Amino acid sequence: MAAQPLPSPVVPADPAPGPLHVAVIMDGNGRWAKARGLPRTAGHKRGADSVRRIVKSSAELGISYLTLFGFSSENWTRPETEVRDLMGLLRFYLEREVAELSREGVRFRVIGDRERLPADTVKLIENAERSTAHNTRLNLTLALSYGSRQEIVAAARKLAVEVAAGRMKPEDIDEDAFARRLFTDAIPDPDLLIRTSGEQRISNFLLWQLAYTELVFTDTLWPDFGHAELEAAIATYRSRDRRYGGVTS
Ligand code: IPE
Ligand code: IPE
Ligand code: MG
Repeated sequence: MAAQPLPSPVVPADPAPGPLHVAVIMDGNGRWAKARGLPRTAGHKRGADSVRRIVKSSAELGISYLTLFGFSSENWTRPETEVRDLMGLLRFYLEREVAELSREGVRFRVIGDRERLPADTVKLIENAERSTAHNTRLNLTLALSYGSRQEIVAAARKLAVEVAAGRMKPEDIDEDAFARRLFTDAIPDPDLLIRTSGEQRISNFLLWQLAYTELVFTDTLWPDFGHAELEAAIATYRSRDRRYGGVTS
């Protein structure tokens, strides 16, 4: 009997809904600048423009949670001048953007090790979190001085302290108890992770939370990432079959 032709790939009849939560590893600012003979800081500045665009687009596209990787625990090893420029840019963003975020109904949060951030920046972060706490249209989380292994170790330590103090029994430690001690308590796991710039790695971002997240990698450098690229990544996400270890018909 002649072999049946293979069906052409189609979008599943019941595409994955959402995504409710999109996480982004915003990478490629330095290469964007280098390609234009500009200093790396110029790339970071343009990267900040992309952040503004993507926050607006996410709200328009009905995304409820947007989590952006802005600065990793490991990024502290970069040259002092670059770190200083990035912190300056962050301060500028926090001073200028909070009112606009509020106008757009955005709730702003920061996850990461605040103790390593400059004191004035921490104040601006706290102020931004407080003044946007009532907003519900889009939950924007910026990961700053963030490392997922460090977050997991800190959660383990918090549980150990509670067990040692007799407030918890070892058998009370389950996935839920663990997740509640991560920075992302109260934030659902990402449905979609986008990494720009062609790199295909996680770089210590949300290791626990990405267990069943759909990963989309794009060669576009972060300063060139806009509404159309976000829509394309969402379309890819919707064509995926999320199985969570089970079987689907
Ligand atoms: C991402 O761009 C921004 C940060 C990590 C702070 P990079 O600065 O990593 O840019 P590339 O990867 O060197 O191009
Ligand atoms: C990951 O990008 C961190 C952020 C985007 C903030 P990196 O540029 O630091 O990652 P590696 O070094 O290429 O893995
Ligand atoms: Mg990079």
